[in-house]
Amino acid sequence: MLVTHTKQELAEQIDEWRHNGDHIALVPTMGNLHAGHLSLVELAREHAERVIVSIFVNPTQFGEGEDFDKYPRTLERDQRHLKKTPADMIFAPDVDTMYPFGPDNATTVSVPGLSENFCGAARPGHFDGVTTVVARLFAIVQPDVAVFGQKDYQQQLVIRRMAEDMSLPVGIITGETIRDDDGLALSSRNSYLTDEERAVAPTLHAVLASVGQKLQSGGRDFADLETEASERLEDAGFELDYFSIRRALNLEIPDRDCDDLVVLVAAQLGAARLIDNIVVTI
Ligand code: PAJ
Repeated sequence: MLVTHTKQELAEQIDEWRHNGDHIALVPTMGNLHAGHLSLVELAREHAERVIVSIFVNPTQFGEGEDFDKYPRTLERDQRHLKKTPADMIFAPDVDTMYPFGPDNATTVSVPGLSENFCGAARPGHFDGVTTVVARLFAIVQPDVAVFGQKDYQQQLVIRRMAEDMSLPVGIITGETIRDDDGLALSSRNSYLTDEERAVAPTLHAVLASVGQKLQSGGRDFADLETEASERLEDAGFELDYFSIRRALNLEIPDRDCDDLVVLVAAQLGAARLIDNIVVTI
């Protein structure tokens, strides 16, 4: 497996693959890979002969005082993972390569509306940073398909909207959320949890699942369900950012006969901001 830090080396390799008629799938990540990321690599493999994993801790999607500096950077370990779950290439650019004019002078891609609620409200500018870096990765790699996780539900919707709105010639694929046995969605940020907090963390998914069951069995008092779930999480020790039942298609407020819902949650637990969601199709 090749590891490159430069656009030129990446382009040369891609040219060779294209010349052979290979399709290319891109899996964008910030590294510190876990089984969730690796499941996306496997899914990418089903869609293309060549799989490129990008590893870049993107400064423009972190706000002031967020964890950009302490975000785990583990390239050697990531390389070992990607030998076992094979990728054809790791693209690990530095900040100057991704932002030739500097992150503060970057041409910015912004998706209004969808980016503004939920994680976008809690982390102003976050999704602009995500779409700005993903648009650049699409321009550099020109993949046939790109794979994102349902774990970051709003993120994959925002990226889908960007690709559709800008007619980007890339298919967006969403892979399911991979969880620990106790239900906690895998995340690089789980490493910020103390042992005590780690024991509490699966409550997030347990509460989502119980709301999902109530919706499946006809529950339609969305506001009541949200309030009840929020209280359960706060009692367990979470500091809630949002718990919300929305239309899966576009995060709009659902009416009672909507049959495609997503339940979204974000909450702080100690030093970790945890997010999770489930889709409920009735
Ligand atoms: P990162 O947090 O590293 O996640 C990379 C991809 O892995 C994202 O598409 C995310 O949704 C997916 N992922 C994370 N946890 C997962 C899990 N438990 N199961 C399945 N997939 C999971 O998301 C980002 O990086 C960045 O915002 C990025 C898109 C790379 C832009 O910088």
